Amino acid sequence: MSRPLSTTDQWIGQFDSVLRTLVPHAAQPARPSPAGELPEASLSEAEREHTVGLMRINHTGEVCAQALYQGQGLTAKLPDTREQMERAAQEEIDHLAWCDARLQELDGRTSLLNPLFYAASFGLGAMAGAVGDRVSLGFVAATEEQVGKHLDEHLNELPAADRRSRAILEKMREDEAHHERWALEAGGARFPLPVKLGMRLVSKAMTQSVYRI
Ligand SMILES: [Fe+2]
Ligand SMILES: [Fe+2]
Repeated sequence: MSRPLSTTDQWIGQFDSVLRTLVPHAAQPARPSPAGELPEASLSEAEREHTVGLMRINHTGEVCAQALYQGQGLTAKLPDTREQMERAAQEEIDHLAWCDARLQELDGRTSLLNPLFYAASFGLGAMAGAVGDRVSLGFVAATEEQVGKHLDEHLNELPAADRRSRAILEKMREDEAHHERWALEAGGARFPLPVKLGMRLVSKAMTQSVYRI
């Protein structure tokens, strides 16, 4: 038997999502990691450090995605697309958990700046959701486009021998393209170029800080 969720239930649910996103190793993936049984590469120390930096950026990107979806969930109406949005958010949890696990394998850690980026993305998501569903979905599409570009760059930069990281990023790339298409088909606004350029600048600042911190 299910009962309607009270405000307290909703707050507990939100808090639970925050913890699952920010506490390392707390997220549970619904799908197994695409790295599967692929062999571990023998990387030089410089290659390992570079890969850790890249995977840390991808992990923080997924923290932002979670926060964005959770912020929108709070304010957006989305009568027709809420279910689809929740499915996309679950796929982002998979991405988060896969990146987290890969960082652990590489003896790396997640970014210390994650709480900051979580808060900022949550606020942006909640604001976009409050403006309206067209903007909210447009924001998802523009963000996914941005993430896709990052993933392409990282796929080029990964050490060729690191098949485990590559398999994860390739699967993420496929999912993100799907999220972008869905958000546009669901009626998301296509953001004008200046807005996209602004988002690109913000994400550059994010990637440069997270690579190190
Ligand atoms: Fe993702
Ligand atoms: Fe996505």
